[in-house]
Amino acid sequence: ALVAAARETELAQAGVTGRAEPWPNDPYPAGSGVASRYASLRALLAGEMSAESVVATLEASGLRGMGGAGFPTGRKWGLVAATDPGGVKYAICNADESEPGTFKDRQILTDQPHLVIEGLVLGMAVTGAEQGWIFIRHEYGPEERVLRAELAALREAGVIGPDACGSGRRLEADIFVSPGGYILGEETALLECMEGHRGEPRNKPPFPGNYGLHGRPTLINSVETFADVPVILQRGAEWWAEQGEGESVGWKFFAVSGHVENPGVYCVPMGTTVRALIDLAGGVLGGARVGAVQPGGASSNFIGPDRLDLALDFGTLAEAGTMLGSGALVVLAEGTDLLAASTNVLRFFRNESCGKCVPCRVGSTKAHELLRETLDSGSGALDDARRGRILQLEETMRKTSICGLGQVALGPVVSVLGLDKGGAAARPQPRPGGSKEQPDR
Ligand code: NAI
Ligand code: SF4
Repeated sequence: ALVAAARETELAQAGVTGRAEPWPNDPYPAGSGVASRYASLRALLAGEMSAESVVATLEASGLRGMGGAGFPTGRKWGLVAATDPGGVKYAICNADESEPGTFKDRQILTDQPHLVIEGLVLGMAVTGAEQGWIFIRHEYGPEERVLRAELAALREAGVIGPDACGSGRRLEADIFVSPGGYILGEETALLECMEGHRGEPRNKPPFPGNYGLHGRPTLINSVETFADVPVILQRGAEWWAEQGEGESVGWKFFAVSGHVENPGVYCVPMGTTVRALIDLAGGVLGGARVGAVQPGGASSNFIGPDRLDLALDFGTLAEAGTMLGSGALVVLAEGTDLLAASTNVLRFFRNESCGKCVPCRVGSTKAHELLRETLDSGSGALDDARRGRILQLEETMRKTSICGLGQVALGPVVSVLGLDKGGAAARPQPRPGGSKEQPDR
């Protein structure tokens, strides 16, 4: 009762009033407690399903990593399970959500801590890890407290601990608060940080599934990925696959922001069109027309108003020259200064570059200078010389940077110029008032 009361207080502090209906990926009735949740975990630990069958079900479901890259979840779990059987392993939930415009994991952590933790502990049990961690963004204090309350309730009920669910297996989960920094959400920088080192990405391969925390095989999935596992195990791979639109599978959480009437978190069938999601968020502010959209957070290339019927799905968006990414749909109304907006995005990456590799550190700074000069001149578009330099820098950074940050930092800018391979062009708008980039921090 004390734990439940604490949780209510935390939710109230977080400004969350609770949902009358559970989100569609939640198999448990709203308001149910520990005793009536964690059914998939109990079934696995009771031997009612095997680790192999969990991996097979996840593979059949088509569930892919919702952190952004979409790696097949069943394959990842199978790889970690098969690496060094019987040896020390770890599992980590990456809750260091920091991409500009991305806030869906925050909602999931608040509303579904039970699913995130159940998914994580299932991952531990299936791969052979005894210790799990939730690596959480340092600004997510209310969500951290919600998670701590849930973990305490689980320990009290014996669901996790030295004899998890009476299985004789030790399964412990805890929280690691990020010291702060966007790059720490990159999985290998996260590992370096947890080991007490400076938080810089490692070269991949080896992937964490082979060489992770303290050099041991480590399962790393995002908040949303883990939260989807319990329902798939309870309702089956076929059920999950049927939830998507057309060829797409499952449900997908999106954070919708920018020039929309009702920004917020929405859970829709994977494969929903960009247009339908914007409509769900109340349409463009003041009834204006769409100028451009970033469908997958700050790392994703802009698409123009002629692409609103694209399905929000890994494959479709990749083919269109952008990506599903971190599940953050940012809408810009017609008339928005797109060059200034994309320069803003680049400035974020320049500021967050860890500095480990030269192309990213120097290239992002140089590119920002070129764009800044153009915006300050009020000329409305890059001249040929600067445009050429930007394209060169983009190619160099994409091909030579160690991690995703440097590889994608200039993509949104180039997409605005209409010169990217996918032709995902949103044309620069006239800038009668000069630069509308936000002031430097
Ligand atoms: P990645 O493609 O390198 O890896 C994706 C996942 O699959 C990783 O867990 C990796 O270990 C695993 N993997 C890939 N190939 C593997 C193999 N052959 N064997 C075993 N495991 C393998 O992508 P990355 O750099 O981890 O993530 C990039 C994505 O992160 C971007 O698409 C971006 O949208 C997203 N992102 C999300 C943010 C957020 O705040 N949610 C912030 C920044 C980026
Ligand atoms: Fe650091 Fe940028 Fe290199 Fe990534 S690409 S390791 S953020 S310098």
